[in-house]
Amino acid sequence: MWMKAIPAELAENEFRTVELNGQRVLIGRASKGYFAVIDQCSHQKLPLSEANGLPGRIHNNLLECPHHGAKFDPYTGQARGLPAIRPIKTLKIKEEGGYIWVALE
Ligand code: FES
Repeated sequence: MWMKAIPAELAENEFRTVELNGQRVLIGRASKGYFAVIDQCSHQKLPLSEANGLPGRIHNNLLECPHHGAKFDPYTGQARGLPAIRPIKTLKIKEEGGYIWVALE
């Protein structure tokens, strides 16, 4: 099911979180374009978006968890830096009518 998520107006290396169907989704833009992931790190299941007010960050096409610094490829979900070894959940997206849409199961 496609859900309208946010206006397609993020600058590169910015992200936003939205709640869609009871799930917290992180939508960001790295240099390869927009991506969407469930806002939960695979290390300790904490939010990727923030840790006590400190935001997660996008750098070199990787999404970095603010808790313990794990890095992920936000397009495939693959862990690319310890302490995480398992992938995060990625979601399909499309850009249409000036909005980013996210596919939820
Ligand atoms: S919870 Fe993300 S690195 Fe530990």
